[in-house]
Amino acid sequence: MRRAKITIVGAGNVGATTAHWCAAAELGNIVLLDIPQTGDMPKGKALDLRQASPIVGFDAEIIGTTDYADTLGSDVVVITAGIPRKPGMSRDDLLTTNAKIMTDVCEQVQKSSDHAIVIVVSNPLDAMVQRAQQVTGFEPHRVMGQAGVLDTARYRTFLAMELGVSVEDISALLMGGHGDTMVPIPSCTSVGGIPVSQLIDPERLDAIVDRTRNGGAEIVALLKTGSAYYAPAAATAQMVEAVVRDKKRLIPCAAYCDKEYGVGGYYVGVPAIIGASGVERVVELKLTKDERVAFQKSIDAVKQLVAKMAELA
Ligand code: LAC
Repeated sequence: MRRAKITIVGAGNVGATTAHWCAAAELGNIVLLDIPQTGDMPKGKALDLRQASPIVGFDAEIIGTTDYADTLGSDVVVITAGIPRKPGMSRDDLLTTNAKIMTDVCEQVQKSSDHAIVIVVSNPLDAMVQRAQQVTGFEPHRVMGQAGVLDTARYRTFLAMELGVSVEDISALLMGGHGDTMVPIPSCTSVGGIPVSQLIDPERLDAIVDRTRNGGAEIVALLKTGSAYYAPAAATAQMVEAVVRDKKRLIPCAAYCDKEYGVGGYYVGVPAIIGASGVERVVELKLTKDERVAFQKSIDAVKQLVAKMAELA
């Protein structure tokens, strides 16, 4: 069987680290692409990563390039291109610059890989994934955004730290946009099958949710230059794996919702089944009244951001 061809657009920290996780998990051949101004940098990172293969034990062709011709016929295209946040900036502050970058990238992706599944990672995520679908014109289920896996991973990490238990025993779900309005769903959060509400009191849980909401900003403030990349890249690689191995993972991601949850044609963070054809199904949960209100607030924030992006053209 032929290996999957995975193109990663943006050879910065998130892109290169996604390549790293994808290579280590032997998910396919990898093309790491960046803009011509980066010169040979993508080639250097790709060669370096490939030289790790005899040590780590994976077989993959890994190339770096600035030419979309090398990406022809990719099965999966991951888009990490764009500027990251600086301390004090919100993800939404990146809108103008990154919307332009996303348009340029997606015009190229549409020409070079018109059968690909596209996974968008650039911020502000929920608007960028909408732009990616508009510009490629791909069926909405073939375009999705990575945020939910990362946000949920942060939440699971903090819960594990709080309880002193393995992260593997924590199952959790967050919905909504990748931002201040993400919505925790406590009824879908458990530790070894025990509802989290039996183990952590509500005030402590609120504090942990709050830390999760600000999880990206916490790292930006610590790094001073750039934003998080290990966990965002690992989350992205998990989505790539779900596609190339047709795993039917039920994971939260920014998926296109029309009738689902009554969203009306926007990308928002929802639990979805991810397999070879992209988002194969959005899972609709019964939400409590409070969860519904919070989720609606999150949807409204995404709509506002998309409207602002449309004004910028
Ligand atoms: C974060 C950025 C990458 O959440 O959105 O770290």
